[in-house]
Amino acid sequence: MTKLLWIKHAAQLATLATKEVGPRRKKEMSELGLIENGSILVRNGIIQDVGRTDELEARHADHLEEATIVDATNHLITPGLVDSHTHVVFAGSREQEFEMRLSGATYMEIMESGGGIHATTRMTRAASVDELLEQTMKRLDSFLAHGVTTIEAKSGYGLDLETELKQLRVLKRLQQEHPIDLVPTFMGAHAIPAEFDSRAEEYVQFIIDVMLPIIAKERLAEFQDVFCEQGVFTKEQAMRILEAGKKWGLLPKIHADEIISYGGVEVAARVGAISAEHLLKTTKEGMKALARAGTIACLLPATALFLHEEAAKGREIIDAGVPVAISTDCNPGSSPTTSMPLVMNLACLLMRLTPREALTAATFNGACALNREKCIGSLEVGKQGDVVMWKVKDYRELQYQFGVNHVKSVWKKGVQVVNK
Ligand code: NIG
Ligand code: FE
Repeated sequence: MTKLLWIKHAAQLATLATKEVGPRRKKEMSELGLIENGSILVRNGIIQDVGRTDELEARHADHLEEATIVDATNHLITPGLVDSHTHVVFAGSREQEFEMRLSGATYMEIMESGGGIHATTRMTRAASVDELLEQTMKRLDSFLAHGVTTIEAKSGYGLDLETELKQLRVLKRLQQEHPIDLVPTFMGAHAIPAEFDSRAEEYVQFIIDVMLPIIAKERLAEFQDVFCEQGVFTKEQAMRILEAGKKWGLLPKIHADEIISYGGVEVAARVGAISAEHLLKTTKEGMKALARAGTIACLLPATALFLHEEAAKGREIIDAGVPVAISTDCNPGSSPTTSMPLVMNLACLLMRLTPREALTAATFNGACALNREKCIGSLEVGKQGDVVMWKVKDYRELQYQFGVNHVKSVWKKGVQVVNK
């Protein structure tokens, strides 16, 4: 049976459609494709038409009576948000470290003394598949309630073969059980596990020789990521891991310049990474290198806020010609949030993105960072019917009334999954 959804009379419908291909840069990031009194028609999960309500009424007069009708008067409609950087599959939480940091300890000091990523690794190793599934599921529900319909999810709290596989297999199961689309990234190179202490090289070789082939053969990940940072993985190690993963078909991403200016962006450019993440400490040269390589900068302002750091220079990065995506970085240590609306607010408040740029970074450019721009990230004919209705009339209100979840309804592939 055909399923037809007709959302009509939106005060504003931000399609995010433009004629450009690939991730949007500079002025293109401000093109929201706004339609007033907008309508969208979704047939069997796929967008059939988008336009003004009177245009759609005229074009589809013969079959609109079969449709489920939603009146979006006084509401804003956007594409489902895309969170292109999360560490959402983990067990436990680290509120005691939050308190330690507030008393003066630094993120890296806590990690070097066996806490941080190591603490979550211990909890994730100890968790059963069902526990990990249940805890992650709750976070996915929260993402969905905040208007997110696709998220990237990294492994990296296993740091041994068994637990890395457990995280990625949990993701595969959640893909069946949860409406959110999940895009898996293998991040065995998230930290040097305690049992390889002082033997980083051996761990790198273990990732390359043992982990990557198994994960690739089981098709458990599409992307790979490395934490390239002083005291974690060197540039040379990051290069080797990412080049090895490329041979197995995994597209590279890299955590770069998060804590210090360490040069991870050079690695990103050399391996042809689809995106470079964090970039808090990236220099002007680094920005130029990213612009030349066409690498997407995935910026995570909630992490900067949570770590009491100055946020990435989003304004300068956009002006340098780098396409920008924004994400939560959802993880228990540096960004325990599932709120992409808050991340959009922080992108404006801490990085001086405009409300238009923040919306593009949280939708279309996020989809590009996940290699999914042909099916999500904008409301265009032939794409998935992933749609959010917001309790505001104007796209600027989303960023202006900050710290508020304005979501009214969410549809995933044309099916309503949130209704408040
Ligand atoms: O993106 N930088 C490395 N990974 C995460 C933090 C992980 C954690 O603290 O558990 C990040 O900030
Ligand atoms: Fe991260």
